[in-house]
Amino acid sequence: MTSSRTVVITGGGTGIGATTAALFAAAGDTVTITGRREDVLARTAAKLGVRYLAFDAADPGSVRAALDQLPATVDVLVNNAGGNTDRQRPAVEPGDLDGVAAAWRANFDANVLTAVLVTEALTPRLADGARIVTVGSIAAKQGSGSYGAAKAAIEAWNVDLARKLAGRGISANVVAPGVTLDTEFFQGTVTEDWVRARVSVAFDKRPGTPAETADTIFFLAGKGSGHLTGQVVHVNGGAYTAR
Ligand SMILES: NC(=O)c1ccc[n+]([C@@H]2O[C@H](COP(=O)([O-])OP(=O)(O)OC[C@H]3O[C@@H](n4cnc5c(N)ncnc54)[C@H](OP(=O)(O)O)[C@@H]3O)[C@@H](O)[C@H]2O)c1
Repeated sequence: MTSSRTVVITGGGTGIGATTAALFAAAGDTVTITGRREDVLARTAAKLGVRYLAFDAADPGSVRAALDQLPATVDVLVNNAGGNTDRQRPAVEPGDLDGVAAAWRANFDANVLTAVLVTEALTPRLADGARIVTVGSIAAKQGSGSYGAAKAAIEAWNVDLARKLAGRGISANVVAPGVTLDTEFFQGTVTEDWVRARVSVAFDKRPGTPAETADTIFFLAGKGSGHLTGQVVHVNGGAYTAR
């Protein structure tokens, strides 16, 4: 890898992705942020001095069409796009099987396919020694229905990815945040009381910040972290302890 790395961050227009983009940009790396909303990306990109590209990471045709404009060589891929789509849809009535199927598919698309499709498309462009970091969630260990199940699927997929690419010195890890505020994740659906109750199980009794997850991603993208691969790294103040 050269000292200035080429970095692609999906979902980089807001929240954890935008904070991560700022960190790499400040380190002198060449960063491309992606997402579906062009206006959001354009604003963040202008603020951070990074490139942007709008496409739906869960849609194969959209990813294919974006390839021409994505970097020819990638040193760091951050699969950050995702979120709990149940927070963006009306609640499903009990017994509504079509509704349940649609809700589960939405979370699978948003959290699994976004990572799998972009990684598959960019794998031929990954430099030897490249780093892949995918953003999972504490929900993979603790429930949250189809969202947690989708994030758990990411962990299983990551193991294969790490195994497959290790021969080229490429690492693949999952960073799993706990409750993290100052992002669009909760879509205004939670109260302060909900957050307080949720983080009361954390040793430090507080939510995480986007910067704390971004710092962990940045570390995993570093040269010295190459032997750390196939892992899930939790950033949650002890709310879930990996053992
Ligand atoms: N905040 C938390 O408490 C928390 C906890 C655990 C894990 N996470 C995970 O952290 C990651 C970042 O979330 P965040 O908290 O920073 O929330 P966020 O601000 O909502 O960021 C999610 C980003 O993903 C993009 N995105 C979603 N679906 C996409 C798609 N199909 N194609 C392309 N981009 C897509 C969104 O942009 P567009 O809508 O413009 O596409 C948005 O910029 C997610 O994977 C989330 O599941 C968050």
